[in-house]
Amino acid sequence: MNILILGSGGREHALAWAVKQNPKTDRLIVAPGNAGIAALADCAQIDILDGAAVVDFCVENAVDFVIIGPEAPLAAGVADATRAAGILTFGPSAAAARLEASKAFTKEICAASAAPTAAYARFDQAEPARAHVRAKGAPIVVKADGLAAGKGVIVAMTEAEALAAIDDMFGGEFGSAGAEVVIEEFMQGEEASFFVLTDGINALPIGTAQDHKRVGTGDTGPNTGGMGAYSPAPVLTPALQQQAMDQIILPTIREMARRGTPYQGVLYAGLMIDGGQCRLVEYNARFGDPETQVLMMRLGAQALDLLLACAEGRLESARVNWAEDHALTVVMAATGYPGAYAKGSVIGGLDSLPESSTQMMFHAGTATRDGQIVAAGGRVLNATARGATLAEAQARAYALVDAIDWPEGFCRRDIGWRAL
Ligand code: AMP
Ligand code: GLY
Repeated sequence: MNILILGSGGREHALAWAVKQNPKTDRLIVAPGNAGIAALADCAQIDILDGAAVVDFCVENAVDFVIIGPEAPLAAGVADATRAAGILTFGPSAAAARLEASKAFTKEICAASAAPTAAYARFDQAEPARAHVRAKGAPIVVKADGLAAGKGVIVAMTEAEALAAIDDMFGGEFGSAGAEVVIEEFMQGEEASFFVLTDGINALPIGTAQDHKRVGTGDTGPNTGGMGAYSPAPVLTPALQQQAMDQIILPTIREMARRGTPYQGVLYAGLMIDGGQCRLVEYNARFGDPETQVLMMRLGAQALDLLLACAEGRLESARVNWAEDHALTVVMAATGYPGAYAKGSVIGGLDSLPESSTQMMFHAGTATRDGQIVAAGGRVLNATARGATLAEAQARAYALVDAIDWPEGFCRRDIGWRAL
């Protein structure tokens, strides 16, 4: 079959890499893609936020299956457009993607289904929000309701920080995303990510992972989109996964279906684990980046079969073939990230890297210029490896990092530390 993947990051390179290995794949197209993706798929320039443009492209190119990577096209209703045109699609409708696009909506779903999560209140005006913070005290968490590219959450350790965050949000720092603000109880604990495919009724867990949000080794510095990940995350024990399924995931799926907006795609639950219990921090309506890189390395070619079963409503009979293995990915970023960084520096050493089912340099923000690969984003490369142990996966991932000649880049040196 002909498959179109939307997106251009390391997540989409990893999805393309896994899909390409499956013999069901005939032609693979990624829009817009990046320099690494171009080595294994055709890259197409289409406006991936424009549902009609995506549908036209699918018709012209006889695309049988569309996989939507990032949240923006989901929130923009691209899955609605492709499904309405009769094209098999992986990814939730805009109405279902509100589980990521509106934090207040997710809280409402949790309340309706009695799912454990932080206590909260929502505000559309600054003064009552300030009064709430003064009444509750710090630490406290202030969130812009809408999509804010991962920057709309302030974990305030002091009341002053929380009040400043409220002023920023209602002052328009996050645009319309901050027109409504959610203020939450601060949850203690360790975070982990849980990935579940759902066709709207059935749910199939496809793995756990742990991200590293801070930019610096030792969990220092500002938050980023994620500087590295590994899978499985041992902190999410089988018992905790079962609790998350019974108390959080399945009630959400039922509530979404009950409202007439069934959720189809991957439900990515950020969980906070404390005292042998987990609570929901947030949902994402898409695969995580860089968590997908480790999930795809562990799943390999079967990933396409699972995504197809999800899109076709056949998850009830789908099974994951698990190997007893570990995968780890290290993000290499441009100096300055997550703040301002330069683009265009040349990345050396890519030609001589090993590429196999157990070791792969996924590309995120890369481009080709005069025959050379150059940095074209903040997060640029994802050195990813699999091993019989996490320590082995880590050593092999850092061996890829060390083979790269890119003075303008950096990475954390401690990815995987919590589990090692
Ligand atoms: P979110 O975008 O909702 O995942 O928030 C980003 C990050 O902020 C999370 O990954 C957590 O590290 C942190 N966070 C969000 N909500 C809370 C909370 N209620 N308590 C503690 N930390 C939180
Ligand atoms: N790595 C965090 C995310 O994809 O949201």
